[in-house]
Amino acid sequence: MPVTSDSTTVTITDAKNPNTSVKILNYGATVLSWKVDGKEQLWLSEASKLDGSKAVRGGIPLVFPRFGPAKGNHPDTDKLPQHGFARNSHWEFLGQVDEATAQFGLGPENLDADLKAAWDHDFSLIYTVKLAGPDALQVSLDVVNPGTAPFDFNVLLHTYYRVPEVTDVSVQGFNDLAFVDKVGAGGEKKQGQSPITINEEVDRIYKDTPKTATIESKGKTLFTVTASESLKDTVVWNPWTEKARGMSDFEPKDGFHQMICVENGYVAQFNKLPAGEKWNCALDIKAHI
Ligand code: BG6
Repeated sequence: MPVTSDSTTVTITDAKNPNTSVKILNYGATVLSWKVDGKEQLWLSEASKLDGSKAVRGGIPLVFPRFGPAKGNHPDTDKLPQHGFARNSHWEFLGQVDEATAQFGLGPENLDADLKAAWDHDFSLIYTVKLAGPDALQVSLDVVNPGTAPFDFNVLLHTYYRVPEVTDVSVQGFNDLAFVDKVGAGGEKKQGQSPITINEEVDRIYKDTPKTATIESKGKTLFTVTASESLKDTVVWNPWTEKARGMSDFEPKDGFHQMICVENGYVAQFNKLPAGEKWNCALDIKAHI
């Protein structure tokens, strides 16, 4: 059976190649692993909690309905933890859509009492994970507002890509873009003509990003990332030495050399979803192995 499940995970295996698969933890609907012909494409910390006690450190955690820490300027989401509750909640496995596709759902009934009190809205999230080919993964998210009042939200697909050595990596497609630098003195900056490279802590929000970007290593493309129009922004993050040391669930401590987060989302500002409406986003990742 290409889609199999146990009490905590769902695995989709390519019907033609048993070494190609994607594994999703029901907690957070977090994609934990994506193997293409046996080769892992995502980075997952060896110290990740997979027991539902903490958001997963690696794979593809889902950020909703707020990005980043509360700043005290948005009462509707200011009581929520960093990055909201989607990655910290037990999603329902809704079943397989076809032999390559699994679907997960989250609504107020799945939130624990504290989170429900912190964000008291009627909502429904449907997350679809698909092995979209021998070397392609697609995830898509529907955000539905079945209530009678609008709500504000951010979404982010916090993808941890596995790379051979991050200092050899460049992220292409961001020339001349404005970004918010969250490191050091920070502030608004501009990318200029060079690709993004990582030689220190990087934590940036690029706004209004092109819909296709590539992650390359020494001139070879590792991933082509294609986002829907609705995913307006891209966060690029690597914690580097000190931040990795400070995260109890980040192992090995020098593992930041093997990862880069390129996170497609809607985070530079809040999006407003009117009552009765639906918003959708999708991310297609092609691995070049
Ligand atoms: C990124 C943020 O999206 O997530 C960073 O831009 C943050 O500021 C990182 O450090 C990891 O967040 P967390 O909550 O998983 O430690």
